[in-house]
Amino acid sequence: MYCIRNVTEDLLWIGANDRQHPTFEATYPVPRGMSFNSYLLLDEKTVLFDTVDRSVQAQFFENLEKGLNGRKLDYVFVHHMEPDHAATLGDLMIRYPEATIVCNGKVINLIRQFHCTDPKGAILVNEGDTLDTGRHHFTFVSAPMVHWPEVMVSYDSTDKILFSADAFGTFGALNGILFADEVDFDRDWLDDARRYYTNIVGKYGAQVTALLGKASKLDIQTICPLHGPVWRKDLGYILDKYAKWAAYEPEVQGVVIPFASVYGGTENAANILACRLAEQGIPVKMYDVSVTDVSYVLSECFKYSHIVFASTTYNNGIFVTMENLLHDLAHHALKNRTVALIQNGSWAPTSGKLMAQILEGMKDMKLLEAPFTLKSTLAPGQESDLDALAQALAASVRGEEPSVSAEQEDKPHGFVCKICGFIYEGDALPADFVCPICRRPASDFAPLT
Ligand code: FEO
Repeated sequence: MYCIRNVTEDLLWIGANDRQHPTFEATYPVPRGMSFNSYLLLDEKTVLFDTVDRSVQAQFFENLEKGLNGRKLDYVFVHHMEPDHAATLGDLMIRYPEATIVCNGKVINLIRQFHCTDPKGAILVNEGDTLDTGRHHFTFVSAPMVHWPEVMVSYDSTDKILFSADAFGTFGALNGILFADEVDFDRDWLDDARRYYTNIVGKYGAQVTALLGKASKLDIQTICPLHGPVWRKDLGYILDKYAKWAAYEPEVQGVVIPFASVYGGTENAANILACRLAEQGIPVKMYDVSVTDVSYVLSECFKYSHIVFASTTYNNGIFVTMENLLHDLAHHALKNRTVALIQNGSWAPTSGKLMAQILEGMKDMKLLEAPFTLKSTLAPGQESDLDALAQALAASVRGEEPSVSAEQEDKPHGFVCKICGFIYEGDALPADFVCPICRRPASDFAPLT
């Protein structure tokens, strides 16, 4: 049976929800499901705005047939060729051969690649091109890399609707609602909207900012994204969120502590640090990166102003789940955060230095202190050092301190064995020193940097 809702009098939502697949893009957990939106305009000409993921194609085609109610399908606007929206385009072209594809040149190439067919009579549009369908007048706006290079959006100047492709989308099935104002979005949806944005298009902040700039010149009263609720009220709320996310600005002045702990020593230090921060009224969140999916932790790192990465040393490296998080953050171009590091290593703590190396490759990541070092567990007397780190973090969160780079002050003093990672602490390495772990001579050691 069809399942349709009206966006406006002549615009129908004919998408569908998937709650069976545990992940989106075969990667991101979607415990609340996923919506794949498609819209049908019933003007003098009929227009379909994108198709859907293969998982919901049966519902989609039933909706489309009902929505058309015997009318011919005139146009199909293809804004984005990623298969979560275009997997059913091939079937659509077979079922509705009379429909004219409206898209740009990059889309046509991807149609050929994904569907091994060459749409006949397609109308190719470029930035600023227009198309009338009767009462409605559309303008096409390119939005490259939001989230693939071919992406475009379209603007209906009659009803002031932006068909925004992936932009303003979110994880989560719609559960009967269609509009963001039908739910408490800030309470129930924002975390998934942020997780969707940061993981899917977070890397492309500059391109999203460019699209927001184009959108700001339009009188937009409704936003129809390809995932999640339609926006018809309080558009400033979601536009503000997008502006912040695209600029990599934190939403919360506070501390998130992702930690990787095998036998609890690192987690214990992270817990104590979190206590000292909370006692000072600093918002703090903690995530075991071996338990919580990286997509959630990445999203929180976008949300918070300060991050403490706490990791045990493993195979002379960073613990695998923490290394994955750090590389994921680097790939998503997170920048402009203040960072502290906690490293643990029972005989050769090297994770701090290696975490710092990844962070050095990212933009505007300020290291607040030299890595706080544990050897197995917090040693007697180290509580005061952890208190000092909490004080420094709290002051930084409050904006009370000048940001001091650990590279400028308080450089670690010591030497690291290039073979096994053992660290000798001290200003000078004795010439006859032999590594207690791998028995290599002093010549195999390098100064800590
Ligand atoms: Fe929802 Fe980039 O696909």
